[in-house]
Amino acid sequence: MSKRIEVNDLNVYYSSFLAVEGVSMNIEPRSVTAFIGPSGCGKSTFLRTLNRMHEVIPGARVEGEVLLDGDDLYGPGVDPVLVRRQVGMVFQRPNPFPTMSIRENVLAGVNLNNRKLSKSDTDDLAERSLSGANLWNEVKDRLDKPGSGLSGGQQQRLCIARAIAVSPEVLLMDEPCSALDPISTLAIEDLIDELKQEYTIVIVTHNMQQASRVSDRTAFFNIAGTGKPGKLIEFDDTKKIFSTPAEKATEDYVSGRFG
Ligand SMILES: Nc1ncnc2c1ncn2[C@@H]1O[C@H](COP(=O)(O)OP(=O)(O)OP(=O)(O)O)[C@@H](O)[C@H]1O
Ligand SMILES: [Mg+2]
Repeated sequence: MSKRIEVNDLNVYYSSFLAVEGVSMNIEPRSVTAFIGPSGCGKSTFLRTLNRMHEVIPGARVEGEVLLDGDDLYGPGVDPVLVRRQVGMVFQRPNPFPTMSIRENVLAGVNLNNRKLSKSDTDDLAERSLSGANLWNEVKDRLDKPGSGLSGGQQQRLCIARAIAVSPEVLLMDEPCSALDPISTLAIEDLIDELKQEYTIVIVTHNMQQASRVSDRTAFFNIAGTGKPGKLIEFDDTKKIFSTPAEKATEDYVSGRFG
């Protein structure tokens, strides 16, 4: 598992509004790539094009290419549902299904009918996914209790367990810690560090310390003004972006001089 993403000259639209322009980048497997930049520069918009979640918005579309190990995600005949299985997503606010138990939440994305899994297979899968999300020990005695009864940090780890239960190649995370306290945030960061052994990970964050702690590579996006498209300004090793970036705008942003 864990595949490489290659983006070639991607433009992202909401109807006639060009929200993100001309992005090309390679995202390496078994690594963490951080997206940073000021509010409205298109980080979430661009992230959602990497698993075809963008197009669920009416009028939303892309131009250009997104390749997953060389296969065009937007190629003719490609099923977006299968794309989203390969490229999972974790959102800003933990969003467990409120009426489902912890166990049901973990297995929610797994097609149990098709795969003809036995009860013990699904129990194993639930345990493996919860262990992978560092949540097993905290919930193993209450798997049939509602997922909504967990703390915010536990709910976010439950959502990560749900995302990895379908064995994706890539995990996209849009500000996964922004609703969490510092202890839960560190737990998620430790988890990301472990998950990168197996997955290609992309994380959007407004937290510069977080980007420098968890990511191997960092992409800085910026926007010239309201109504203008967001652009990728600089993409490099995280150490370089935070110490000696090539662009002044990057330096201003990472040192907190604007944004
Ligand atoms: N559903 C939508 N319909 C139309 N325009 C949208 C939609 N979602 C976002 N936009 C616009 O696209 C641009 C980029 O927004 P996006 O949410 O991707 O920015 P962001 O970098 O993630 O910002 P933030 O850091 O605040 O989350 C903004 O101008 C925004 O208003
Ligand atoms: Mg966003």
